[in-house]
Amino acid sequence: SLDLVSPYLFKHKGSNFLVKDKMQPEDLDALQYFEIRSTDVFLISYPKSGTAWMQQILVQIMDAAHPEQAEDVSNRLRVPWLEERSADNPLRERPDPRIFGTHLPPDMLPLGVKAKQIKAVYVWRNPKDVLVSFYHFAHSWVLLETPTSFEDFFQQFLDGKVYMGSWFDHVREYYAVHKQLNIHFVQYENMLKDLRGEVVKLCAFLGKDLMDDTIDHVVKMSTFKSMKTNPNANYKDLVEKGRYLGETMRKGVAGDWKNYFTVAQNERFDEVLKYKMSNFPLPLTWEI
Ligand code: A3P
Repeated sequence: SLDLVSPYLFKHKGSNFLVKDKMQPEDLDALQYFEIRSTDVFLISYPKSGTAWMQQILVQIMDAAHPEQAEDVSNRLRVPWLEERSADNPLRERPDPRIFGTHLPPDMLPLGVKAKQIKAVYVWRNPKDVLVSFYHFAHSWVLLETPTSFEDFFQQFLDGKVYMGSWFDHVREYYAVHKQLNIHFVQYENMLKDLRGEVVKLCAFLGKDLMDDTIDHVVKMSTFKSMKTNPNANYKDLVEKGRYLGETMRKGVAGDWKNYFTVAQNERFDEVLKYKMSNFPLPLTWEI
C-alpha cells in the first residue's frame, strides 16, 4: 500500500509522487536499471525551476550540433520524461544523443548516470519564485491538488509536502553529489540576466562547438516571447488535451514572489532557508 502524504501524493524514498500518475514505487525503482548510454544527456530540476526552458535550449543546441537529426516535434516528445508511466516508451529508443528530463533525486537516478558519468544539467531557481510558480501550476495541472489558499500552499512548500517534496532537500542533495556525477549547475536568474552567456557555457559543457550565429539562433528560439508562441515548446498540446488548465509559459520573470508573499511569510521563508541551507556553498542570492 502507498505511503500517502495526501490523497494526491505518496512518499517513496523521501520524495513525493502522484497518486493519479499510476507510477508505482516498483516502477520508480525499476528506473535505476534503465539502460544509459554514454552519449545521453540528462536535464534535472526541481519542479517549476525552468525545466521547459532548459528543454528548449538543449533541443536547440543538439539540433544545431546534429542537424541531420533535427525534428519538428514537441519538446515533450523530443525530451522524454524518465519517470513517465511506460518504462518501455519507444521514445527512449531515440537516436543518440538522447536527452531525458527528470525530477528524481540523485539516489533514484538510473545507476548508469553515475557509472557512465553522463552529462547532466541541473537547473535551479529562487525558491520563492519556484513557490509562486508552483502555486499557479497546482491550479493548472489536473494531477495536483488545487490549493485552498496561498497560505496553505506556502506552508506545504516549506514542509516539503508538495509534488516531489522539499526544494531545499532537492538542491542540497544534488549539490552534495555534484562531484560524483557530471553535473553542470545553471541558475534560472542567470539565464534571465545573460541567456547567451549561459548557452555558451552549456555548449562548452556539452562539447558542442557552435558558430556565433548558430548560438544567436539558439538564444532567439529560447526567449520567453518566442517559446510562448512555439507549440513545440509551450506545452499547448497538454492544454488542448485538458491536462493543463492554464499556460505553462506564465510570466517568466524573477521576483514575482514580491507580489504574493506578506512580510511575515517572507520572514518565515527566510528562516527556513537559513536553517535548511546552512553551510550550503553556493550563493543564495537571486536579485537580477
Ligand atoms: P512562472 O510560472 O514564474 O512564469 P518548469 O518548466 O520547470 O515547470 O518551470 C516553469 C517556469 O519557467 C514558469 O515560471 C515559466 O514561465 C518559466 N519559463 C519557461 N520558459 C521560460 C523562458 N524562456 N524564459 C523565462 N522563463 C521561462
